Amino acid sequence: GSHILSIEQFERADIQRVFDVADAMEPYALRRRVTRVLEGAILGNMFFEPSTRTRVSFGSAFNLLGGDVRETTGFESSSITKGESLYDTARVLSGYSDVICMRHPAAGSVAEFAQASRVPVINGGDGANEHPTQALLDLYTIRKELRSKGRTLDGLRIAMIGDLKHGRTVHSLCKLLCLFDRVQVTLVSPQELSMPEYLVEGLRNAGHQVVVTDNLQTSISRIDIAYSTRIQEERFTSKNEADLYRGRFRLNQSIYTEYCEPNTVIMHPLPRDSRQEANELDNDLNANPNLAIFRQTDNGVLVRMALFALVLDVVDQVEKYSRDVRW
Ligand code: CP
Repeated sequence: GSHILSIEQFERADIQRVFDVADAMEPYALRRRVTRVLEGAILGNMFFEPSTRTRVSFGSAFNLLGGDVRETTGFESSSITKGESLYDTARVLSGYSDVICMRHPAAGSVAEFAQASRVPVINGGDGANEHPTQALLDLYTIRKELRSKGRTLDGLRIAMIGDLKHGRTVHSLCKLLCLFDRVQVTLVSPQELSMPEYLVEGLRNAGHQVVVTDNLQTSISRIDIAYSTRIQEERFTSKNEADLYRGRFRLNQSIYTEYCEPNTVIMHPLPRDSRQEANELDNDLNANPNLAIFRQTDNGVLVRMALFALVLDVVDQVEKYSRDVRW
């Protein structure tokens, strides 16, 4: 088993493999079948930043494969607060676990931890750098949404909207889109929060058409996917600085109806900031069938089950060990 630290590790064939295994996980995630292929295995779930869906869906995915989960949440419950290094922490915890999922506020920290770990480490978000498993579940969702409309990932038209400077999910997603063909990417952000240049270059080098703008209305009129993101307040020096940008790009049902083609799919990695001053994705979209945000979160379990099965090399055993459930 190897680590999953960055989308840069993946080639297009690897993505197809992850998606095929994720598809095969559906009966288990929906509890129609049971597989205990990770019985006796332990996941060390170490989250040094707040998380709802990444932490819990990693845990649920591991449980659904039969394994057990140990959790560390926040620095305050870790001896890192006593000055222990990431190196020592990794040496210790990798003796207690078969695989470790980790989120940490510093870019590069999960890779540093992985170097000292004796077991595979999966990056659950390292600062503003990357969130590779989110990008995989996002692209898995995009593929499913497009397929129901008779389209493929090649030729995709997507707008990424919001804090593209600090948003690690869109950083990983840009890298992932470089593996596909003829993608049209519109990057919508305040100029101060624009996508890092090396990622824009990467998209262009992949032959993709990239438009950089701060105009939301003109950007969402001819796209398949509107991918909204939150202003990442925790990456700013102060709340006041984040307040300068909050609420700049709001998507709601009336804007959707006026500007978007019918069937434009709305995505967001979540959490969406539902406070009135931000509200980048209004609750009045909840009844819109093209709002895919909770299909994203559901798909996260399938993709993370697939990643565990691949990293721990039990894919071949899933079908063999599985049995039907009669409720
Ligand atoms: N999308 C995502 O990473 O959500 P959490 O921060 O709740 O894990």
